[in-house]
Amino acid sequence: MIATLLAVLLVTILGYIINTVSKPRKYPPGPKWYPFVGSSAIARKVALQYGSQWKGFSHLAKEYSTEVLGLKLGSELVVVVFGEKNLRKVFTEKEYEGRPDSFFIRQRCLGKRLGITFVDGPLWREHRQFTVKNLKNVGFGKTAMETEIQTELHNILEYIEKSKTKAINPKVILAQSVMNILWKYTAGERIKEDQLQYVIDLFSKRSKAFTIAGGWLNQWPWLRFIFPKLSGYTIIKNLNQQISDIIDETVNKHKNGLVPGSDFIYSFLEEMKENNVSFHEEQLKAICLDILIAGAQTTSNVLEFAILSLIRHKQIQEKVYDEIHSVIGEDTPCWNDSNRLLYTMAFLLEVQRFYTIAPLAGPRRVLEETTIEDYVLPKNTTVLLSIGDVHFSPDLWDEPNKFNPDRFLDSSGKLVNTEHFYGFGLGRRRCPGDSLAKSFIFIVLVGIVQKYRIESENGVLPAEEPIIGLISGARPFSAEFIPRF
Ligand code: HEM
Repeated sequence: MIATLLAVLLVTILGYIINTVSKPRKYPPGPKWYPFVGSSAIARKVALQYGSQWKGFSHLAKEYSTEVLGLKLGSELVVVVFGEKNLRKVFTEKEYEGRPDSFFIRQRCLGKRLGITFVDGPLWREHRQFTVKNLKNVGFGKTAMETEIQTELHNILEYIEKSKTKAINPKVILAQSVMNILWKYTAGERIKEDQLQYVIDLFSKRSKAFTIAGGWLNQWPWLRFIFPKLSGYTIIKNLNQQISDIIDETVNKHKNGLVPGSDFIYSFLEEMKENNVSFHEEQLKAICLDILIAGAQTTSNVLEFAILSLIRHKQIQEKVYDEIHSVIGEDTPCWNDSNRLLYTMAFLLEVQRFYTIAPLAGPRRVLEETTIEDYVLPKNTTVLLSIGDVHFSPDLWDEPNKFNPDRFLDSSGKLVNTEHFYGFGLGRRRCPGDSLAKSFIFIVLVGIVQKYRIESENGVLPAEEPIIGLISGARPFSAEFIPRF
């Protein structure tokens, strides 16, 4: 009897193991799967070997001569797509519009499947539409926003002025400014200085500790009980707590009418009164968190990379300055100037191509079984999009590894090749914050270069190679800002 039971148990375990290592029919090529871990160990190995998960996957795709790489991370089917055609397909087709539901993502959304960025279906459609419309109603993306950005530029210039040519690390002041703008439209006020500093620090730690696929913690959530710090769980917990406190405080102030003017939180609280069931305080918190997480670090990192590139390429810095000086002189920059400062625009596009902020975008979830090239992707497969590879493809760009703003200009000085730039995504899940990001980056960069020559500290050039975790960021550096006049 016991022998029969043991035999049944053994066959069941064997059956389970065989099932976990068998690839679905016509699944894209990729490394072998091992029991329980799938291809996690090889994914981890190449990420360490090539410096980031994006570069590791890119290397694996070359090894398997494929533009659709098939993996299994823990028990999750993960496919990475490469090449412009595949990228456009995933960005724009409905079957790819979903978002995965994983432990890591739930932690990122305060423990629930809420917000905009990491939900799909009717909840996503309704709340994305509501948020975009109501942010616009309070001035987001409109001319009024320009005035707010100019005020932030003024604060940044004052901060630089105070440094009296002493070298400064631009990270903190840039991140604070973006957060303040985002919070102004969301909550109608600024975040307190000490809270702001703490949150920026946690965002940066979180980005470094995780990959877009979530890392070990996502595959084996129980790790948080044994290695809370090492697994990154402590960072997420602290970040959630800190942000929750900030949001709770401001929601309470709004409920008591203590914040003057109109803003997104007031619009949401009004909608709650209409008894619309999907509008509740937890959803409001999750959307506020989405706006801060998706908007702050991405935008300030681009500006940091722009400053780093100006230091590394002095001739380019002089060309940007000459254009600004001859076209707008000492006028305060505004977004309309982007139609006239075309070399500066080409420079900023090249910064965002060369230092793609989200080189591995997504994650998306396949809503129904679908095909790409000749491969079949089962329902619920997670899909990542390698924007970074398209931005470095020799088929699209001459000498892609060279930093060269001229690639975005034709012989008459007009902007070209912008259709191959995917920094903000494409389709219905395209970044809704691009207008703010573009205006902020342009106005702040022009405002700084107009007044200062930027140099490295003690002649030591900042490192070109970025740190790539959840998103891409510059290695810490300091810069000297020398007044032009
Ligand atoms: C340079 C700065 C930025 C970059 C490079 C960037 C990049 C992206 C990309 C590539 C996506 C698409 C992801 C996908 O297709 O799955 C995205 C989505 C998103 N972005 Fe941005 N973003 C930036 C700034 C902002 C700002 C300022 C906001 C603030 C409102 C924002 C809010 C969002 C949100 C909420 C989503 C999710 C949209 C959805 O899932 O429907 N982003 N961003």
